[in-house]
Amino acid sequence: MKTGSIVLTNIGQLVTNDPERDGLLGIIENAAVVIDAGVIAWIGAAEDAPDVAPPFDCRGNAVLPGFVDPHTHLVFAGDRADEFGRRLRGESYEQIMAAGGGIQATVAATRAATSDQLTDATLRRVRRMQASGTTTVEIKSGYGLDLEQEKRLLAVAAAAGSAVALDVVPTFLGAHTVSPEFAGDAEGYVEYLTTTVLPGCAPLARFCDVFCDEGVFTVDQARRVLEAGREHGLVPRLHANQLAHSGGAQLAAELGAISADHLDHIDDDDITALRAAGTVAVLLPGVSLSLRLPQPRGQDLWDAGVTVALGTDCNPGTSYIETMPFVIALACLEMGLTPEQAVWSATRGGALALGLEDRGQVVIGAQGDLAILRYPSYQHLAYRPDAPMVTGVVKRGLLVSG
Ligand code: NIG
Ligand code: FE
Repeated sequence: MKTGSIVLTNIGQLVTNDPERDGLLGIIENAAVVIDAGVIAWIGAAEDAPDVAPPFDCRGNAVLPGFVDPHTHLVFAGDRADEFGRRLRGESYEQIMAAGGGIQATVAATRAATSDQLTDATLRRVRRMQASGTTTVEIKSGYGLDLEQEKRLLAVAAAAGSAVALDVVPTFLGAHTVSPEFAGDAEGYVEYLTTTVLPGCAPLARFCDVFCDEGVFTVDQARRVLEAGREHGLVPRLHANQLAHSGGAQLAAELGAISADHLDHIDDDDITALRAAGTVAVLLPGVSLSLRLPQPRGQDLWDAGVTVALGTDCNPGTSYIETMPFVIALACLEMGLTPEQAVWSATRGGALALGLEDRGQVVIGAQGDLAILRYPSYQHLAYRPDAPMVTGVVKRGLLVSG
């Protein structure tokens, strides 16, 4: 990816997330940042900024590390607006799934789409994310469910990342649901996944994920898929405890998974286990909003010392939400995180959920990825949930939006 050099001047409020500075967000007022060849090279008072690269005037507004969205299902065709309406008229997600809707409907639409159509649809989503300040995004497969289709979705994810200046981190989610070819035979599908699909897809992915939940994959099946993934070099992460208290969080801890995602149904033992394992809790408040369900226990996880990250979970069924500023607002207004916790979780938390130490912070040597707000304080993210929040985006030192 190309890199650039730039001096951001006249930053009213700089969120650094630097643990060496004061408070969770390590705020510096009236700051400047120098990015040299894509990497943060200097941070300090605006009046001391060296004149080493083209300046960009932030006009007294707030600047944050670029958002890191650690959980999306961006490669899909079609939409499920009708199903969404049915749900709002009283049917549950599980009922619709059992009747062949839900993920299966998107699998059929995705398989039927050409690669160009899928790439265009994915690119449109990625561009909107980028314009809202996301500089790194995880993208899962999972609407293909056979070897060729899953490979195709991972290739589309990579193509979207190369076309837009934003880092895509690919995850293999062949175990999203049982494929139509194996309907009623989850064991047979798990065998096919571990022996055929995973080995073929592993070179295209960094992580392996499983939807481990009631009515989907059992803890034992999930363990087999994730262990097979590990043998092929993929780091485990999990959709855990979304629909029920189904054991996924404990499995994530047992395997030392990098993250356990959703976590809508957890008890104190699950929280203790995640903390002990160092597994990041990826919370997805857009899902609870869209399904009209209670939010996960974000503050309890935070208080127990679990690393918390926030993501969009952008997908056509349970969270057709693309922008991290809106997710931050939901995390504050609906889940009860403080603005500081939500901003940290959407930046440094997301980076840690993806194992990316070099971002989510404004420190010397970190990747030069920044989001410039339209407003002077990060608190506007919670305060104005429907306002366009981001006026400029810098990726590896290049002004890519704004
Ligand atoms: O994260 N939980 C599983 N997967 C998605 C839903 C995908 C879909 O409904 O298409 C989620 O909520
Ligand atoms: Fe998901």
